[in-house]
Amino acid sequence: MSERVAVFDTTLRDGEQSPGCSMNLEEKLRMARQLDALGVDIIEAGFPIASDDDFAAVREVARTCRRPIIAALCRTTPEDIERGWEALSEAERPRIHTFIATSDIHLQYKLQKSREETLEMACNAVRMAKRFTDDVEFSAEDATRSDLDYLCQVIESVIEEGATVVNIPDTVGYTIPSEYHHIITTLKQKVRNIDRAVISVHCHNDLGLAVANSLAAVAAGARQIECTINGIGERAGNASLEEIVMALRVRKDLMPFESGIVSEEIFRSSQALSNITGVHVQPNKAIVGKNAFAHEAGIHQHGVLKNRLTYEIMTPESVGVKTNSIVLGKHSGRHALGKKYEEMGYDLSRPELDKAYKLFTKLADQKKEIFEEDLLAILQDGFAQIPERYKLRAVQATAGTSTLATALVTLNDTKSDDASTGTAAGDGPVNAVYEAIDQLTGLKGSLIDYTVRSITGGTDAVGEVFVHVEFDGTSYTGKAASTDIVDASARAYLNAVNKALYSRERKKALGGEKSPAITAAD
Ligand code: KIV
Ligand code: ZN
Repeated sequence: MSERVAVFDTTLRDGEQSPGCSMNLEEKLRMARQLDALGVDIIEAGFPIASDDDFAAVREVARTCRRPIIAALCRTTPEDIERGWEALSEAERPRIHTFIATSDIHLQYKLQKSREETLEMACNAVRMAKRFTDDVEFSAEDATRSDLDYLCQVIESVIEEGATVVNIPDTVGYTIPSEYHHIITTLKQKVRNIDRAVISVHCHNDLGLAVANSLAAVAAGARQIECTINGIGERAGNASLEEIVMALRVRKDLMPFESGIVSEEIFRSSQALSNITGVHVQPNKAIVGKNAFAHEAGIHQHGVLKNRLTYEIMTPESVGVKTNSIVLGKHSGRHALGKKYEEMGYDLSRPELDKAYKLFTKLADQKKEIFEEDLLAILQDGFAQIPERYKLRAVQATAGTSTLATALVTLNDTKSDDASTGTAAGDGPVNAVYEAIDQLTGLKGSLIDYTVRSITGGTDAVGEVFVHVEFDGTSYTGKAASTDIVDASARAYLNAVNKALYSRERKKALGGEKSPAITAAD
């Protein structure tokens, strides 16, 4: 029987820390449900002391997902651990994850603490966390650049205090597989009580080695891997969950380990994350990229048609990529739509299905065929929880080589129930539309990023527009999909406007309450 390796998913914590990947509460919950369906062993849901939103995310994920362990990240201070535990208190299987750096460079410049002081802080934190729960993980941040003897001393001490998982992060993505293998082997040899804890690995991808390093660590004896969907995370990201899981599965002959991952849920998890964040994986991304199972060269196609094994080391189906998707069109009924959503893993309530069906019929009038991507776009568009203060009633834009781009926009203000129309000129039709929206809402947005992508094929494709807009120094994302790019652009921008207004309202309701200061962990 193969040994089990636990999959610790940190998409909602380390992954969410990457630029452009922030998620609101409803989005985190949706992602957490998908991670649960994927079969991850541990969901790290956030860093509760970092903000009220992070706290709420950990609490709600803990309330919602009862099977996996839910972990909350905390520094070693008592306030962090108390706040972490508060967020976890309703979890079925809570884990406090406390961390402090152990490398001299971090001690000297970041913490300004001696090795002795740091060791004491680590021990105190684990001791305190153990008063709340049995399941305590300790991470030695920047472990791979730490003095190995000191690292062994810290790890032995925290296990003595009761740490059940000891994580050895390659925080800055500096190590290489043979070196990491040596570090884990040394810990196994020198730390007297190492068999009382699970060794965990957490690799960043700065040199593109995160997955290779994680696998080397498993070969040396680690039995928990920390990773993220699509490899998102600080800087170059974290080790990618899908690559690790499929490497273990495909090369079982050399790495005889089991994970609890339902591999058929991998593609759906990747898509769900991309849809939520608007950050799409590159086409050649292993396992989940658009081209991961596409055979372009004639000779490859020929081989694959004769026997897939010629050019495929795993089947697309094994990671949930469907090669022949069911086609829905304007004649399909509510029942077929519900069934299709069920197949895609979305169990819609009756009112949700009614809402989705309304959007579906509208789209089916404009397109010949509706694909899974369209259906996901419908969910994205129709179910966002942010209240829509402004709704787009109409948009018209004109542009051309010899005319100034102009736009005419009509918005409904749902607060006053008034409709108003604005006109503006701009550098192009989209810019003109955004100028007109700014006039109508009274907010001045500064467009940081604008991406448009076709999410379905063909000349009547649905395009998705994703924007990053800054209002008063804070950046908000917005997205929308439509067969008309100007319409999608206007609605994506309004999505960001509505988020900004919602966040302003919430801040007002909280009375300007500030979150405790924080040093971001990676
Ligand atoms: O990269 C890192 O060291 C981390 C720790 C907080 C686990 O993210
Ligand atoms: Zn990290």
